[in-house]
Amino acid sequence: MWGAFTAGLDAGSIYNTWPLMNGSFMPENVTAFGSFWRDFADHRDGVQFVHRNLAWLVAAAVVGFAVHYRSLTALRGVWIWLLVAVLLQFMLGVFTILTQVRIELGVLHQFGALVLLSALLKALHRTGRPLPNAA
Ligand code: HEM
Repeated sequence: MWGAFTAGLDAGSIYNTWPLMNGSFMPENVTAFGSFWRDFADHRDGVQFVHRNLAWLVAAAVVGFAVHYRSLTALRGVWIWLLVAVLLQFMLGVFTILTQVRIELGVLHQFGALVLLSALLKALHRTGRPLPNAA
């Protein structure tokens, strides 16, 4: 979701440095509106801040999940997709920001999100509980 906000607000055109945002973890402008939702969902500085930090959490969660459950029969062949997809997606995001959204990278990053979502759906499909039988 925050990726979509980032693309929609063209928030990739500012703070084109990584890992810090122009030398700061949280630049002053991130909280410029003084309202939680406006700051983090409605303006470029805050939206980019959330997207780049949420990416760490997403990457850590997916890597942790994939590595921890790699020996589950249900995840055979899927865990490696999860691992590769999330790491590639993270790296593509970093290159996207560093190049001020070079179009090829923006498109690859969008495609990467699709691959990651597909791998997650596959994992959910393989591990989810069957629906209870209808009476
Ligand atoms: C697991 C990690 C990540 C996921 C799942 C993810 C997902 C997404 C998604 C779904 C979009 C919207 C694509 C579109 O609609 O065009 C997006 C856009 C973007 N992401 Fe990420 N992202 C991740 C990591 C990162 C990182 C680490 C950075 C940079 C530090 C980053 C920078 C960007 C930028 C600049 C855009 C806007 C691109 C544009 O304007 O077309 N992303 N991301």
